[in-house]
Amino acid sequence: MSTLVKGIHHITQCPGPAQQDVDFCTQVLGQRLVKQTVLMDGNIPIYHFYYGNADAEPGSIATSFPYSRRAGRAGSGQIQLLSYAIPRGTIAFWKEHVERHGVEHGGIQERFARKYLRMRHPAGMFYEVVEADDTRRPWTTRCISADVATRGFFGAVMSVRSVEQQEQFFIDALGFRKLGVDGSYHRFEAAGGGPGSIIDLNLEPDRAPGSWGFGAGIFHHIAFSVENDKALFAQKALYEELGYTDASEIKDRFYFHSLYVRSPGGVLVECTANVPGGFYQDEAPEELGTRLNLPPWYESQRAEIVAMLEPVTVPEENRPRRGTRPFASPTAVPAGTSSAYSLSRTNPDFARYKR
Ligand SMILES: [Fe+2]
Repeated sequence: MSTLVKGIHHITQCPGPAQQDVDFCTQVLGQRLVKQTVLMDGNIPIYHFYYGNADAEPGSIATSFPYSRRAGRAGSGQIQLLSYAIPRGTIAFWKEHVERHGVEHGGIQERFARKYLRMRHPAGMFYEVVEADDTRRPWTTRCISADVATRGFFGAVMSVRSVEQQEQFFIDALGFRKLGVDGSYHRFEAAGGGPGSIIDLNLEPDRAPGSWGFGAGIFHHIAFSVENDKALFAQKALYEELGYTDASEIKDRFYFHSLYVRSPGGVLVECTANVPGGFYQDEAPEELGTRLNLPPWYESQRAEIVAMLEPVTVPEENRPRRGTRPFASPTAVPAGTSSAYSLSRTNPDFARYKR
């Protein structure tokens, strides 16, 4: 069994308007805005926001491409929702909290003997808070104190029209093990079984496939952590050995390196190796997310990029504060290691493609 994959690194969504997303993720979900940067593919500047826990740890990072250009279509073959871990006994707080913010929710429910509350982002994506034992450090807001705040991901749910091929992919290609079945939900856990390692496949045989491209209101992909670039290339070789030949090249995302493959159930799966310094390469720990950061190879076009982005206000909740610290990254690689590998970047002339 492969042990290259450690657990969830990040989950990426396409909300609609940027400010609406910042407000929902920081004030309703209580996340820390960890990074403001831009999508590193294509010719159009699109924001890329990263949200996470107090330490901006992999396994807590939800990222957003605010994409009002077109609507996505929710359906099968997609990530259906993202689950955050909350302390036991706090589900009633969360029900009151989301009601105070006028957020649609599905009431307190139970799956695999855990209480959860499902809620809807104004752009259409769904989230859950799930009671679990989790000692990671939470971000706090005026309304969400440390004793009730989310710790990071519990996991994610994927909607699939059949379980068999997706299950085989998770076990053979990603090294997960199956934990059990509860109703339509088939539960899997990453090797190691730490926080943020649960994937539920929700069997919905009659649900029409959702859209795969960028579009408002859907999740776009899920990323899993691997140790370093060597493991990333080993993962690509494993995909090819198993017949998943459409694995992408390794892309330089500045904060980490990424490999993508379309899983048989339809969900786009990324594997990610952190680079030394991670999110702290371009910002001090207590200032994460307070300004727009560009990868060095986009910096000469900053003025053109900024002119094409909608302005956003960083919420007061995210003002710099003392006591934050870089995570002790278990996935950092020694400086210079990356240079041994060939990485892919895009660097378009944004002004030329302005439309
Ligand atoms: Fe990603």
